[in-house]
Amino acid sequence: MPETPLNSEETPRIREMTVDDFPEVFHIGEEVFTAEYSQSLYRTWDEYEITTLFNSDTELCLVAETKGRILGFALGTTVKKHNSPWKYGYLVWLGVRRDTQKGQVGSRLFKEIKRRMKEQGVRMIIIDTSADNEPAVRFFQKQGFGDIQEHVYMTLNMARRAKKRHGKKP
Ligand SMILES: CC(C)(COP(=O)(O)OP(=O)(O)OC[C@H]1O[C@@H](n2cnc3c(N)ncnc32)[C@H](O)[C@@H]1OP(=O)(O)O)[C@@H](O)C(=O)NCCC(=O)NCCS
Repeated sequence: MPETPLNSEETPRIREMTVDDFPEVFHIGEEVFTAEYSQSLYRTWDEYEITTLFNSDTELCLVAETKGRILGFALGTTVKKHNSPWKYGYLVWLGVRRDTQKGQVGSRLFKEIKRRMKEQGVRMIIIDTSADNEPAVRFFQKQGFGDIQEHVYMTLNMARRAKKRHGKKP
């Protein structure tokens, strides 16, 4: 059962994001894509993510709205891979306000972005998230995603190396 069920009057409308929505979308993203969330991702949530995706793929930037309040958003793009005839859909950011999560908002957003990607000729949708983001992994499995591929993520702390070098005797 959803934690915060939405009654039929509150069923969110899914529509394209507009410039006026940027601040609200940005703040919802700040709430859900915390530093801990981005730790092992190469992308971090910032205002350029919104503006860049909006400028390149307006039709794939969606918000869920109820009574003038934005509850969540989906920002995506399409990718053509070299040597592949397929067009891929990449769902870059999907976020739902904490107080509305588990109320089917994410599912509605996903359904609409999937429809739009299909209309654009997308053959496969890709998402990525941390392996320990269980809610998201469960969510995407529920939407039919499978074939989970794990990849190794490594970091090299340049500051620490520089410090060590400078501390060394000549
Ligand atoms: C992932 C996220 C977008 C899901 O949105 P949501 O509106 O809460 O999801 P829904 O209510 O549509 O859930 C649909 C299904 O997903 C699964 N699911 C969703 N949240 C879950 C959770 N916290 N734990 C386990 N399963 C979960 C369930 O199977 C659920 O089906 P059910 O309602 O029949 O139980 C939301 O949790 C979120 O914003 N998370 C933080 C940001 C993030 O991780 N984004 C994804 C990567 S970009």
